[in-house]
Parts: sequence; C-alpha cells; structure tokens
Amino acid sequence: MVWNDYERPHADLREAIERIERAGELLRIKGADWKLEMGTLAEIVYRQESPPAILYEDIPGYPKGYRAISGTTNSAKRLAIVLGFPPPSHPLDVVRAYRDRMKSHKPIPPRVVNDGPVLENVVKTGIDVLKFPAPLLHEHDGGRYLGTDDLVIMRDPDEGWVNCGTYRSMVQGADRVGLWISPGKHGRQIREKYWRAGKPCPVLISCGHDPLLFLAGGNEIRYGLSEYDYAAGHRGAPYEVIESEVHGLPMPAHAEIVLEGEMHPSETMPEGPFGEFTGYYAGGRGEQPVVRVQRVYHRNDPILGLACPMIPPSDFSYSKCVMKAGMIWDEVERAGLPGVQGVWVHEPGCARMFNVIAIKQAYAGHARQALHLAATCQSGAYLGRFVVVVDDDIDPANLEQVLWAMCTRCDPVEDIDFIRRAWSGPLDPRLPKGRTWNSRGLIDACRPYEMLKDFPPVVKASDELRERVRAKFDKQLRKR
Ligand SMILES: Cc1cc2nc3c(=O)[nH]c(=O)nc-3n(C[C@H](O)[C@H](O)[C@H](O)COP(=O)(O)O)c2cc1C
Repeated sequence: MVWNDYERPHADLREAIERIERAGELLRIKGADWKLEMGTLAEIVYRQESPPAILYEDIPGYPKGYRAISGTTNSAKRLAIVLGFPPPSHPLDVVRAYRDRMKSHKPIPPRVVNDGPVLENVVKTGIDVLKFPAPLLHEHDGGRYLGTDDLVIMRDPDEGWVNCGTYRSMVQGADRVGLWISPGKHGRQIREKYWRAGKPCPVLISCGHDPLLFLAGGNEIRYGLSEYDYAAGHRGAPYEVIESEVHGLPMPAHAEIVLEGEMHPSETMPEGPFGEFTGYYAGGRGEQPVVRVQRVYHRNDPILGLACPMIPPSDFSYSKCVMKAGMIWDEVERAGLPGVQGVWVHEPGCARMFNVIAIKQAYAGHARQALHLAATCQSGAYLGRFVVVVDDDIDPANLEQVLWAMCTRCDPVEDIDFIRRAWSGPLDPRLPKGRTWNSRGLIDACRPYEMLKDFPPVVKASDELRERVRAKFDKQLRKR
C-alpha cells in the first residue's frame, strides 16, 4: 500500500485493481469456467471471513488476456480506496466519511475527449457479445449475463441529462442482449419517454469500468443528477468520455467493454430467471426489452466486471450497505433531521430491507420523524422492509445491540408504524405476482421521549471502572 492509493483518484479499473492488490485484498483464480464455476467460486469466497476481490484469469475458451473481476468495492478498505477516504478502522468510518464529504460534494460534468483505450477495438460487423466470458452464474439461471456490474447509459430525451444505472443484461443472441429494469427506475422512466414518442431508445452498456462508477450506477442517486457528475464529484476530477459512433452517447474513455445499441418499442424476448440479490428467483422468466447491439467497443485484453447476487453476503452487498447508509444519512439531514448519530444498512436485509438509524432524541416525535424520513428518502425508498430507530447509546451497525433495544425499548402496539403501498418491485419475494408495491414496518426502538428521565438505568460498568479493572487483570486476561 502506498499513501496516495487513498488520495489520488485511480485512472481506471486497472489501476484500482493494482491498488486493491497492494492492499492485500485481491485473489487471483486461474482456469475458472464461465459456466457455473465463477458464480460458485464467488459464493464460496463470500462465505469466508474478510473475502477479497476475485480476478479470474485464464478463462477456458477465451484468449489468455481476457479476464473478469468481482468484488472490487466489497470491503471497508476497498471502498476507502475506491472512494478516496482514509483507511478505516470501524465500518461506520466510511459511512461517516461519506456523509461528511457530501456536505461539500459538487457534481463535476464529464470532459468529452476524442480518443481513449476503449477505442482500441471497435466492432461494427460480425458482432458477437459472447467474445467476452459472460458467466452463467447460478444453476437455474435462464442464460449468461454479460451485464451484472454494468452501467446502462441513456440520455433523457426531454431534459438532456444522462442517467447511468446498473440493470442486469442477459445475452439473447450474438448481437442481442436483454435489459431487466424495475418499474420506477430512472432508466425505465427514460426508456418509456422514447417509446411514448414512438422512437427506439438509444443505450450504452458498459461492462467493465472504474468501480466508483459501479457505486454510482448501483445506488439510488437523485433523479436528474447524472451518475457521471456524482461520481466525478467524489474523485474530484471529471470523467473522460467519448461520444459513441451511432447515438453520440457518452462512454467512459477508460471503460473495458461497451455495447452500443437501441431498444425498440414492443421488441421483447424471454428473460431470466436470474438468481437475485434477495437470495431468490422471484422475478422468474418473462418478456423483457431487447437491445439490438450496433457496436462493440473494447480495450485489448478486456476485464469484464462481475457482480454475483446470492443469499447475502454477496460480492457487492457490503458496499451497498455502506453506500446506502451514507446516502440515507446525508438525505435525512438535508431534509432537516437533527441529531443523527449513525446509520447502518444490514447485509442480512439484502442491503435494503433492514436499516437502522441512531439519533440523540431532542423532542417528542423526533424518533418517528427519523423513521419516516429514512424509509422514504430516495436511497431508502425502493424495496425496503424494516427501518429501526435507536437511541445514541446503541451502535446501529451492531445487530445484537439493535435487537436488544428492540426487545427492551419498543412496545409493538405503540411503537411500530406502517407505510402502505410503498415502492417495491417484482424482485420482492414476498409479493404476489404482478404487484410492485409493499408495506414497511417502522420500529421505534428508542426509549419513549416522555420516559427518558425515568427509564430504568442500563446495567453497565462505567468506562473508568472497566479500564481500571482491565488494567489490573491485564496479564491474566491476555492468557485466554
Ligand atoms: C449488482 C447490482 C445489480 C442490479 N441489478 C438491477 C436490475 O437488474 N434491475 C434494476 O432495476 N435494478 C438493479 N439494481 C439496482 C439499481 O442499480 C439501482 O436501483 C440504481 O439506483 C438504478 O439506477 P437509477 O436510480 O438511475 O434508476 C442493481 C444494483 C446492483 C448493485
């Protein structure tokens, strides 16, 4: 590790991988097949303690230099490298650093350039998207997915801004890929605008890029703010983009692989099932829009980005927890909520469905305000389930402490609120087919404000007593 691995922005995915390897967080695996082996290896590695990023090399059936990478953002240290924060010592350090940065974060628009590594190969005829090692990740998946940690880039036809979202993309043929976009997502809203006007929707799909762009693409950035500008605001420098040949859409100049094409109204193919981030195949198989691929741009020896959904933890769930926690913290404060001490989004809740906010209560109603804001702000709204508010003596990242607070400070009848008809989608395994909204349980696990003075005291040695006793018995305690 060198000091500026955390400070100077990395140029591209390749430099990020070098830094991750220097930090001791890269596992190289040679000889894994695209057919089920990469996905199963991700599952094996992500069931271990402190799992590394995985670089797949020597993929059978593919040229020697073709590689795939998974998990680039999925630890506190890797996130700090990718976001440019100091090395963390507690998971909440990155969340706090994110929220602090957002106080002065300024979006930076991309810089258009004429050339870059992504133009090393431009394929116009004889397109075959399977020239890249798109994996079949799980045994019951309906196909090979080229886009898992991808960036789907579209321009709003009315307002001109460019959205970049991570939406799964299944191979449907040599020059066809599917796109599964959930109702309400920005990419879906934009696509519908083109189709309502009777026009095809132009699109780029980047399938290997700076992991910071993946963090932006896979999280709910507010409508109208381009993920390029948002991510550049984090790195403190603009992204270089090249206008694509057919539609003039901006592609990252340093991307590894970019597909360019268009989606025509009513042109669909069967898509899925796909093993999803909730740990189920809830979306099933259904007709989904198809991209007619018109160009393929790629670097020499391209590196395909992978994100492998599974029962959490997965190779991206930790990074989603940290990003979402930081985003919720930032958004509830912007909405005026005082006294926030911390926010944590828990991995067993699939990085969306069990979110905890800690506050220092200042007035009656404060806790409910925190709950409702955390449940409905942009980054907390989609496919949530439970939100818990706790007092400031509880670490929101510590599930045992959170459960203890829920069991001892919350009266279910008085302290659980519901939100009905909230934004969800077909991937919610609990929803009957065809329904895309759900309800939320908001759990107030704070001591009731009016009981704060009289609430039974907590049984806990004072810091001073604990330190004194620890020092006295230090040698004996260390023997264990
Ligand atoms: C690895 C990964 C895969 C995802 N796959 C999908 C997907 O297939 N479809 C979808 O609608 N959202 C998917 N999401 C969630 C969206 O990327 C996320 O909601 C993002 O905010 C969408 O961008 P948008 O807000 O610009 O619509 C995925 C997220 C991640 C991190």
